[in-house]
Amino acid sequence: MKLNVPFVRSQFPAFSEPTLKGWAFFENAGGSYPCEQFIDRLTDFYRKNKVQPYYPYPASQRAGELMDSSYERMAAYLNVTASEIHYGPSTTLNVYVLANAMRPMWKDGDEIVVSCQDHEANAGAWRKLATRGIKIIEWPVDPQTGVLDVQDLKGLISNKTKMLAFPHCSNVIGHINPVKEISEIAHQHGALCVVDGVAYAPHALPDLKNLGADIYLFSLYKTYGPHLGLMYVDKALIGQLENQSHFLKKASPEIC
Ligand SMILES: Cc1ncc(COP(=O)(O)O)c(C=O)c1O
Repeated sequence: MKLNVPFVRSQFPAFSEPTLKGWAFFENAGGSYPCEQFIDRLTDFYRKNKVQPYYPYPASQRAGELMDSSYERMAAYLNVTASEIHYGPSTTLNVYVLANAMRPMWKDGDEIVVSCQDHEANAGAWRKLATRGIKIIEWPVDPQTGVLDVQDLKGLISNKTKMLAFPHCSNVIGHINPVKEISEIAHQHGALCVVDGVAYAPHALPDLKNLGADIYLFSLYKTYGPHLGLMYVDKALIGQLENQSHFLKKASPEIC
């Protein structure tokens, strides 16, 4: 099928914005100009429904429906359920909150493996756990190619490993890691997989159930949408994470 370039360009107002004329924009990892549909939907929401949702008056009821539909529609794209989708300010902050929420699941001396191919977003918050009793094992890259070798991982992971952090796709070398194979190795040792999909998602939305990651993150503002980070957490896991939000939300962690 031939890509209809004029049609695609017509979906993005930035292409017809006079102040941007003569410029090309290649900064995918830093963000993307949004598509028309998103701008229209957000503007409409801010005009009509930017109130506390779920109250008994029409604008508020509609606000709740629209918010619910954002979870349902993203879940459908990613082949997961709506209660497994969480939104936060960015992927960096989602990982930061996640690291705090997961730390109580582990004992002093437990190990986590962090790849050296990760962006700081999926590395820094995990490495900081070294000051809170967790042993960090580095999964190095090949110094010539920058590629992560699954055989190397097999020598680093053990039954002491609680979690493995790695990217779906490297934002430096563009290499796509075999997430399913890596997740299977982690699961054989009882370890969880936290996968940074930020560099991958702008090119193809992943089928998360098929990938096998326990937690998967990407940034919606790099996929032509709002300035938010999306985090998928497998529903079997969500109840084990320590509540980081209002104490009153403890009973329903899927909305924290
Ligand atoms: C591969 C990768 N992961 C994570 C991030 C961080 O995402 P965010 O800006 O939403 O915190 C970036 C940002 O450029 C990135 O390139």
